[in-house]
Amino acid sequence: MALLEVRSVSKNFGGVAALKKIHFSMNEGEIVGLIGPNGAGKTSFFNCLTGLLPVDSGEILFRDGKFPLHRLAPHRISAAGLSRTFQNLRIFKNMTLIENVAIGFHARTRAGLWDALFRTRRFRVEEKKIFTQSIELLGFMGLEKQANEIAANLPYGSQKRLEIARALAAGPKLLLLDEPVAGMNAREKEEIISLVRKIRARQIAVLVIEHDMKVVMPLSDRVVVMDEGAKIAEGLPEAIQANPRVIQAYLGEA
Ligand SMILES: Nc1ncnc2c1ncn2[C@@H]1O[C@H](COP(=O)(O)OP(=O)(O)OP(=O)(O)O)[C@@H](O)[C@H]1O
Ligand SMILES: [Mg+2]
Repeated sequence: MALLEVRSVSKNFGGVAALKKIHFSMNEGEIVGLIGPNGAGKTSFFNCLTGLLPVDSGEILFRDGKFPLHRLAPHRISAAGLSRTFQNLRIFKNMTLIENVAIGFHARTRAGLWDALFRTRRFRVEEKKIFTQSIELLGFMGLEKQANEIAANLPYGSQKRLEIARALAAGPKLLLLDEPVAGMNAREKEEIISLVRKIRARQIAVLVIEHDMKVVMPLSDRVVVMDEGAKIAEGLPEAIQANPRVIQAYLGEA
């Protein structure tokens, strides 16, 4: 079995087939690029993996089949070790960076409402641990100096890195990034490439949707291509760039 095994997953929106019998798998520590023209179904695929959208049919098995994601609620999927970022940045803009990351950690703490209300010893110990870990994670993402700033006051590239930090706080085995370099300048893109490699070095697999070929091709061990809801190709980056079916899908768009 694999870290992730997707078996014949389909998803329709009325007359639109967003996902057509998708088969897909990932191994631990792999970096896989997911590409395809606008409307190919890439984000819908993420939404099904993370439980935001129920699948119409098929199975999604996580961590050697231990977790049937197609039957789990989003918070259970996150607890099982699958985290994501969104195509349209989702952070708490009026909160500080450290608060944003702490929320990611809270999703997996053991202290409950009782502990929080009465500020039990367990709660206080966990609060302290979360604070330390949040600072560490912000440091890992190169955001340590801005830890106490309000997220809204950061440049866009830093906000995108903050969202990745929050996703990492949940302790994933697999991280899904939906267009992580969209809207970034060349220097910020380079930073994201090296960060994703550092994330993989922490034994976290990464599935990344990205339109920028200069980012996704050097970064990915393997590239999967979707078009109109179907997986049309899969292989090494060099082979994908030379694949006539893939070239046709992109030319058809233009
Ligand atoms: N919640 C929804 N309700 C209805 N239709 C949807 C919904 N989400 C996606 N779709 C449709 O499903 C298809 C796939 O959309 P999706 O957002 O998954 O594509 P994408 O590959 O992520 O595209 P992009 O590169 O533009 O982000 C599109 O035709 C889209 O309009
Ligand atoms: Mg999308």
